[in-house]
Amino acid sequence: MSTQQKKYMTITYGCQMNENDSERLSGQMKAMGLVEADQPDQADVIIINTCCVRESAERKIYGKIGDLKRLKAANPNLIIGIAGCMAQKDRDKLFKKAPHIDLVMGTHNIHQLSELLADIEKSRSKVLAVWDQAERMEPDVPTIRKNKVSAWVPITYGCNNFCSYCIVPYVRGREHSRPEGDILAEIRELGDNGFKEITLLGQNVNSYGKDCDGYPDFAGLLKAVDNIGNIARVRYMTSHPRDMNAAVIAAVRDGQKICEHFHLPVQSGSDAILAKMNRGYTTGDYRQVVGEIRAAIPHAALTTDIIVGFPGETEERFDETLEFVKTVEFDAAYTFLYSQRSGTPAADMPDQIPLAIKKERLTRLMNIQNESSLAINTRLKGQNLEVLIEGDSKNDANKMMGRTRTNKIVIWDKTGAEQIGQLADIVIETAQTWVLKGSLLRLL
Ligand code: SAH
Ligand code: SF4
Ligand code: F3S
Repeated sequence: MSTQQKKYMTITYGCQMNENDSERLSGQMKAMGLVEADQPDQADVIIINTCCVRESAERKIYGKIGDLKRLKAANPNLIIGIAGCMAQKDRDKLFKKAPHIDLVMGTHNIHQLSELLADIEKSRSKVLAVWDQAERMEPDVPTIRKNKVSAWVPITYGCNNFCSYCIVPYVRGREHSRPEGDILAEIRELGDNGFKEITLLGQNVNSYGKDCDGYPDFAGLLKAVDNIGNIARVRYMTSHPRDMNAAVIAAVRDGQKICEHFHLPVQSGSDAILAKMNRGYTTGDYRQVVGEIRAAIPHAALTTDIIVGFPGETEERFDETLEFVKTVEFDAAYTFLYSQRSGTPAADMPDQIPLAIKKERLTRLMNIQNESSLAINTRLKGQNLEVLIEGDSKNDANKMMGRTRTNKIVIWDKTGAEQIGQLADIVIETAQTWVLKGSLLRLL
């Protein structure tokens, strides 16, 4: 695009993988000479990077796309692009459903944005770019990172697990690992540029390297990342419970920078449901892994994802999940209403659960989980915890916010000496379900 000072806006839905893709969408537009717009009505290009993991996400996104019709009517030169997972899935429908959009680009086409925008400018016609599979390793396009302290670094793309409820393998393609050298080079550069925390991203990070001879396994990669100077903290997500192993647990225990936080989505506490979900482990297997983690790293935090109302989830099976959550004691759980995704095996399973029952179960589950979160956080009172300072507290400009290595949010009264990206010791004085409150002891 030739015109000066055109403006772009990137709107992102979905997971960290999408956030990271959006940073590369924005990076390409910036490299083309566009600047970021503060408001959608100032933008010359608007890209919506979409998610389709649940129907609720899709509904919200279609609503947002509908809202943009008004802007297109006011400014016919506005280019509206739909990228990411929902674009991949609804590639054949989007132009029909929303004739005001100009560009549909799939999950494997993120790196092509600059070419595609140039095509649209030239031809003034609609462009569809949706590949079924990744053609090459990503990402060698410019990236703009909004956060200057924490950065996401993809290590695997796609997923081969085909959990029976999940759309991700259909829209993100088959799993492939990024070369170790590329990953380490990106992290070194991030360290040199002042980033303190990196999060390794993949749908199933523990299977890193399995698809390529000569690559290290995930534990090996963690150790290599732990040796990179400047970076203070290393996180990763998401781990599949079936693939969590002693080598990874040991790497976390022995590493200097690898945070003691295990996010292990269990999805259900019923063995019958886990089998229908095609998760590849039982509740017994899961408990064993948790036992190994807690034996090796007693202060590690454990978080999970749980789906409520999977087809065939009887009251008894749901009670098993409640009992599981009570006895395992998670620091936090992300809980979701099961959402039927057409094309996935679970969408056609019998005994779909009515929405009212799902909602009522979700409330019961959250109440039990909240008790665990509060109980675990209460045990932290009086402890000095290392926090990475992220910035002002969202709700109170007189307070600062940071995160512990175990990924808990901590808030304290600002002293004025704190700097974003610094490590600090905070003594915990008050525990709540989602937040810890304390006072600054010292800057590190
Ligand atoms: N690869 C990651 C993340 C997948 S999506 C993993 O395996 O954990 C994040 C979460 O969304 C999943 O863990 C699951 O709990 C939830 N989810 C996926 N599909 C869903 C569906 N159809 N309905 C409700 N929740 C779903
Ligand atoms: Fe979906 Fe399962 Fe893959 Fe996670 S592991 S992305 S839940 S299919
Ligand atoms: Fe992520 Fe949603 Fe796609 S959770 S992988 S953006 S479907």
